[in-house]
Amino acid sequence: MKNRHFKHPALARAVTLASMAALFALPLAAEAKSHKAKPAPLDLTQPVSATPWARYGDWTQVDWKEFNTLSNTASPAYAPPPKLEGALVGDAKNGEKLAYDRGRGGSCVACHIMGPTTPSMPGAVGPDLSTYSQWGRDDQWIFNYIYDPRSVNPASVMPPWGTHKVFTVQEIKDMVAFLKTLNGESPRMKDALENPASRPMPVEDRDNLDPFVNNAMASVESAQAAWGKAGPSGKSCASCHKDAKKSYKTWAASMPKYEPRLKKIMGVEEFVTRHARATTGDEWLMQSKENIDMGIYLRYLANGAPINVDTKSKEAKAAIARGNELLERKSGQLNFACLDCHSPERGANKWIRGQWLGEHKGQVAHFPLWRTSRSEIWDLRKRFQWCNVAVRANELPPEAAEYGDIELTLMNINKGAKISAPGIRH
Ligand code: HEC
Ligand code: HEC
Ligand code: HEC
Repeated sequence: MKNRHFKHPALARAVTLASMAALFALPLAAEAKSHKAKPAPLDLTQPVSATPWARYGDWTQVDWKEFNTLSNTASPAYAPPPKLEGALVGDAKNGEKLAYDRGRGGSCVACHIMGPTTPSMPGAVGPDLSTYSQWGRDDQWIFNYIYDPRSVNPASVMPPWGTHKVFTVQEIKDMVAFLKTLNGESPRMKDALENPASRPMPVEDRDNLDPFVNNAMASVESAQAAWGKAGPSGKSCASCHKDAKKSYKTWAASMPKYEPRLKKIMGVEEFVTRHARATTGDEWLMQSKENIDMGIYLRYLANGAPINVDTKSKEAKAAIARGNELLERKSGQLNFACLDCHSPERGANKWIRGQWLGEHKGQVAHFPLWRTSRSEIWDLRKRFQWCNVAVRANELPPEAAEYGDIELTLMNINKGAKISAPGIRH
């Protein structure tokens, strides 16, 4: 009966041995796997950021609760612009003032050049409107485009100024009257820097690892000291991880990742808060100095390692699919999606007022970074929060699952790029 399919005894023996080996190999491999996958202790019970989340005191405090956030739908539904009755009557002078008013949605000249009186440093996300009176547009068409560009061009990246109540109907009529005065005269721009067509793209070439250049390098030193300092539990990071340099040469390059105990994507900073609380007993809330220091240090240890996040597991795939949707989600009073500004097919690689819009590729490997224009260190989540507030949308707390999905999606777009932290940017 035994091995009746095999005529040759040696072959039969080999097969038996192989199947026995396979039998033993199975549990061994499973054991090795479970050993390796021993999860890092995490506190899963307490808040990881200031709760309830409150916006930074030196940011605008306006509450945009009537508009979409990345997690909540609230913006008014699209409706066709009102029909003009009779000839359009508008005050061109007032229209000019409104078009240049930075307090009203950043001003039209953040994206358009508008004839000879265009203020300093216009942007070029939208077309130069200096010849607009010759474009042959009728009043209702122009009114509609400004009131809600979706009425004419569903793919428009321009905010719906009327539907989202940045300007009243009469104010929009005034701006139409102003645009009709633009008869081809170009703005007087004093030099090549003024003109968004010739303004050179900014290049960041400061030495980010030079502590005299990059103030964020001080975080590396603080975190190294913190690594060896016992927390309230009597343990320090060093009690369990002797050689940070050896153990975490690549770890940060694999973050963020799906954390089954939280059922969401967790980044370096949230890990630091939860893991420190569970091990050393330290309370390092996200975006606190200690948390940012440790986040920088863990990425600094991985400097040069190519971004290598999990994109293959079922959970990662689902998160990236959600992240791609979030990058297209319109939010805020100004109704922008991330990709309206950061996709090269739309606003990216252009000037929005005096700011160069970068594309998502190339945007993450240098985080956290020192922002010289603000004298602050920003981690990636704070950057997301700022980009939300810039379009007049309420930001989410730093640990929000939506930010995790976006972070993983951006890491996926930048897979292979080498970690270079802490970065430095204007
Ligand atoms: C964020 C950039 C941005 C801002 C700010 C902006 N626009 Fe635009 N605008 C665009 C872009 C881009 C287009 C063309 C393509 C599109 O709609 O996406 C456009 C198109 C237009 C057009 C239609 C031109 C045509 O084809 O006839 C008008 C009119 C216009 N803008 C007026 C304004 C006015 C008035 C303001 C200020 C209240 C303003 N824009 C602010 C980006 C902007
Ligand atoms: C009481 C022991 C203990 C202490 C103290 C401790 N850790 Fe851990 N840490 C672990 C264990 C256990 C793991 C999971 C197994 C492994 O990766 O070694 C881990 C894993 C990690 C990982 C890898 C996480 C992953 O996703 O695999 C990092 C990074 C880390 N710890 C950093 C720190 C830092 C920073 C501190 C100090 C705030 C610290 N640890 C304190 C026990 C500890
Ligand atoms: C109205 C335009 C606008 C929108 C919409 C916008 N951003 Fe930004 N973003 C900027 C500007 C301006 C900067 C600074 C200049 C730059 O680096 O592109 C920036 C910078 C960034 C950076 C850092 C780039 C670097 O190299 O340091 C990241 C990451 C980023 N944005 C992500 C996002 C995400 C994610 C969203 C959507 C939630 C978003 N942005 C929406 C305008 C925008």
